[in-house]
Amino acid sequence: MAQRVLVGGGTGFVGRYVCRTLENAGYKSLIISRNPKTENHLTWDEIESTGLPENLKAVINLAGEPVLNPFKRWDEAFQKTIHDSRIGTTNLLKKAIMNSKNPPNVFVTMSAVGFYPPDQVKLYDEYSSPTTSDYWSKFTTNWEAAGKFPSDFNEVRHVIVRCGVVLERDGGALQQMLPSFWTGFGGRYGCGTQWFPWIHADDIAGIFLHAVENSDVEGVLNGVAPEANTNSQFANTLGTAMWRPSLIPLPAFVLRAMFGSPRSSMLLEGQNVYPKRTLESGYQFKYPTLESALTKIIRSK
Ligand SMILES: NC(=O)c1ccc[n+]([C@@H]2O[C@H](COP(=O)([O-])OP(=O)(O)OC[C@H]3O[C@@H](n4cnc5c(N)ncnc54)[C@H](OP(=O)(O)O)[C@@H]3O)[C@@H](O)[C@H]2O)c1
Repeated sequence: MAQRVLVGGGTGFVGRYVCRTLENAGYKSLIISRNPKTENHLTWDEIESTGLPENLKAVINLAGEPVLNPFKRWDEAFQKTIHDSRIGTTNLLKKAIMNSKNPPNVFVTMSAVGFYPPDQVKLYDEYSSPTTSDYWSKFTTNWEAAGKFPSDFNEVRHVIVRCGVVLERDGGALQQMLPSFWTGFGGRYGCGTQWFPWIHADDIAGIFLHAVENSDVEGVLNGVAPEANTNSQFANTLGTAMWRPSLIPLPAFVLRAMFGSPRSSMLLEGQNVYPKRTLESGYQFKYPTLESALTKIIRSK
């Protein structure tokens, strides 16, 4: 019988790639969703009241209210939803794992490259321990802490994946950018010199599978491609892959007006992140360069 993996937020963009990759590797995924639709869906309330299902190989959490929704005001209520959907669900799963009679081998939790404060010069890897100075580095520090087990609980490995912008055409940032590029109105965000850490959807799913399957993988893995690119390089490479110009920038003031701070800083500032530990742990990227990733995404379907 296939081993089972419980995936919080498995209905989302990243979740679909993670569940497909798990299933291709022979696992059965059980999904936690607010709106259960099929027999392999469970609700958060069920997990909270009855605990984890029996015989799980792993628990993964990918749940999170979308942050860059221009129709949502950045008010206290929305910030609470952003918090509860990530930190609240991670806490709930951690408690369920610790209360389980037969816990899974591993708990893999999502985090983001925003853990590293934006910087034009520094090169960050998993061994860096930057001062958490801005909104997102403080937020992700708390998000990561929510998944950490107390030091006297050693039964389950915990892996944290610090994820960059996930690229595929059926979700996330790229799906939102494609219409402007197809119509010839695509371009960089702001001045374009900011770092743009990215990863192909197959590679982020591959890193989650790698964390599930390898008993020596523990702690933080950066979920970014080894090649570092700026936002301008990203826009130019995307334009080239699509045979379209990429000359029309989206000005910083427009993004600030749409999203306010600190959300616009996610687009207008960046960090240079290298997946040193991910590579040391033996993960081999399918798409290590932006050209290979975007060419595959744009031209192969
Ligand atoms: N996509 C990226 O480029 C990227 C980069 C870095 C980090 N991440 C992080 O990776 C995670 C998954 O991203 P994604 O792109 O797959 O997002 P997504 O497509 O919006 O999916 C997120 C999932 O979270 C659940 N969810 C949404 N709002 C929720 C709420 N208020 N309470 C509880 N659950 C909620 C949804 O499941 P149901 O509707 O079924 O309940 C949904 O399937 C997020 O935490 C995100 O911050 C993503």
